[in-house]
Amino acid sequence: MLEYHGKLVLAPMVRVSELPMRALSIKYGCDLVWGPEIVDKKMIHMKRIWNDRLQCVDFVQKSDEKLVFRTNPALEKSRLVFQMGTADSKLAVEAAKVVAADVGAIDVNSGCPKHFSVHGGMGAALLRTPDKLVDILTSLVEEVGKPFGIPISVKIRILEDAEKTYGLVRRLVMTGISCLTVHCRTTPMRPREPAIYTYLEGIAQICHEAGICCYVNGDVGCRDNLQLFMKNYGVDGAMIARGAEANPSCFQTGPLAPWLDVCKEFLKMCKKYEYTNSHAKFCLTKMIPGKDPLYQQIAQAKSLDEMEAMLDNPLIKEQIKSSKTSTAVSV
Ligand code: FNR
Repeated sequence: MLEYHGKLVLAPMVRVSELPMRALSIKYGCDLVWGPEIVDKKMIHMKRIWNDRLQCVDFVQKSDEKLVFRTNPALEKSRLVFQMGTADSKLAVEAAKVVAADVGAIDVNSGCPKHFSVHGGMGAALLRTPDKLVDILTSLVEEVGKPFGIPISVKIRILEDAEKTYGLVRRLVMTGISCLTVHCRTTPMRPREPAIYTYLEGIAQICHEAGICCYVNGDVGCRDNLQLFMKNYGVDGAMIARGAEANPSCFQTGPLAPWLDVCKEFLKMCKKYEYTNSHAKFCLTKMIPGKDPLYQQIAQAKSLDEMEAMLDNPLIKEQIKSSKTSTAVSV
């Protein structure tokens, strides 16, 4: 059974927390890894395939076999938390059953502020419909968590004041969930606004009274901060999103690894697990400082091999370009 206490974890991030990023985060010392949110309606149309070559489980769309989610059970099953988007307990249960045997836990996203989620009653909309959220979590605990022997958790945001936030948390901790992560921003807050930890200690206390773990999310930064948050606010663990997206070596003890080394390691994972150019490019351009010439080069690369050559020799593309220009001039 997945253990939550004292852990520093990778946050769920659509387009980012895929297998290459999870594998690299684990390599740098990350304790538990959340996958990207996948919506229940998509999950129920997934088909499970054992990918013998990669030793991975692939969940593909039944209609066209397009890859939706890939996991390496030997590496991550005991520490993988699958996050779902849902607004309906029946669909949530049906969807969770598709992946339950291949993951360590299932988490419900109750914090996404994006129009797509909120419009469909999912994500942060669930913070305003606590009866529905309680129904979803209770159903998942009873119909998936218990029979499959895996914990269920939820990720929320803070509400506009302490009483409302505590009132919601008091209801959620009674559903049988094992962990509650609180992203310490309200729904309207922008990611650049500093996280607010004012209610964190109170939330952690309510969780502990009910016998469940509490994780903090929002500007956590690096491993050194885990102990600080545990000591200062009484939380059981901490979750990092953008810090890990920019440099997954944030999970290691001590200073960050140089970004170029991290990029090379990430690309190796993309190749190993056969991820697409567009995935590698999306993540690498978050890791390379925007002002570095390599940023533009990677953004224009046509293949993983080309990206690898650029990372091994960051000036290669410039050299190709300038040699072409000089030939043109001399002719
Ligand atoms: C996110 N976030 C997010 N949250 C979630 O519950 N499910 C998801 O799929 C996503 N997707 C996602 C994608 C990207 C690219 C980013 C940057 C963020 C929110 C994320 O998990 C986290 O709550 C916030 O980013 C706050 O944490 P940090 O960034 O301050 O550590």
